[in-house]
Amino acid sequence: MTTVLAIETSCDETAVAIVKNRQVCSSVITSQIPIHKQYGGVVPEVASRQHLEIINQAIAKAMDDSLMNWGQIDGVAATCAPGLVGALLVGLTAAKTLAVVHEKPFLGVHHLEGHIYATYLAQPNVDPPFLSLLVSGGHTSLIYVKDCGNYETLGETRDDAAGEAFDKVARLLKLGYPGGPVIDKLAQTGDPQAFVLPEGKISLPGGGYHPYDGSFSGLKTAVLRLVQNLEKNHQELPIADIAASFQETIAKALTKRAIACACDYELKTIAVGGGVAANSGLRKHLQAVAQKHNLQILFPPLKFCTDNAAMIGCAATDHLSRGHTSPLTLGVHSRLPLTKVMELYQH
Ligand code: KG4
Ligand code: ZN
Repeated sequence: MTTVLAIETSCDETAVAIVKNRQVCSSVITSQIPIHKQYGGVVPEVASRQHLEIINQAIAKAMDDSLMNWGQIDGVAATCAPGLVGALLVGLTAAKTLAVVHEKPFLGVHHLEGHIYATYLAQPNVDPPFLSLLVSGGHTSLIYVKDCGNYETLGETRDDAAGEAFDKVARLLKLGYPGGPVIDKLAQTGDPQAFVLPEGKISLPGGGYHPYDGSFSGLKTAVLRLVQNLEKNHQELPIADIAASFQETIAKALTKRAIACACDYELKTIAVGGGVAANSGLRKHLQAVAQKHNLQILFPPLKFCTDNAAMIGCAATDHLSRGHTSPLTLGVHSRLPLTKVMELYQH
């Protein structure tokens, strides 16, 4: 058994967890959403300062909640990429300091590998290969998960991420930040067939469409045009119908590509991760279509869909148990492809 204390500060959640292999011993998540809400989105400098202010309390609480002492911890990990540079630096520096003080190995973890590992927190008996549908605020990808640290990106968005589309559409409907949860709630009372919106196909030079890549920026623009037209005609905005139609379009687009990808690559399981994995429309639609194709769909528990440190700890325990550790000179990266994960380790 390998036990790791992990820190996640890549965006607007300050999170610390202690994880023993795939078992969560403690998980502290403090969201900065109430602070960023007034600006309509995350302000990077404010995020860094807020992480700095509460990181020590979060570490102390995670230790207390786990009822463990430092003698029982085998390593210290932090998200080092991708994310907001100033925010990442707070968590990474705290983790390095703890590793030096307590003489433990240190590991930098790729945030998206963490989202993939969130699957194991509720499904400890699942193992690769499987297809990961990663849908967060910053990323939307279809990833062939072959092994710890071994990933191939098979499909992705060419522009906006799914979560970003939810946030942008919520902003233009004046629903506040973050957009996903509020659109999800409104969509429950709306008619998903009320408006026909574009699913964002990518044309191929030789004709036809890319089977796994997509685009969400056209969808966002289509919602904007729809709202402008309704307003021009002095019609009251049918917000719930717009939310439901928009959500249905995203759920169908993601489902179609994920199912095609899993079938083509003969992968029997699709594990969904990232904040948009919490979406009820996507959950329902993907499950229903997958059943027809005899595919297994795994969603993490809601609290491990959005950013948390337990998923980072879970990835770190796997790397550490394989002898992977990071040098203390490791820096942070605002962008880093998942295919470069193994560059974070000396092994
Ligand atoms: O994974 P995450 O916490 O952060 C990133 O790594 O980006 O994802 C945050 C994103 C936000 O865009 C938020 O609007 C979206 O996840 N989100 C949702 C839902 N809950 C959060 N989107 C759709 N439906 C939800 N229920
Ligand atoms: Zn995330």
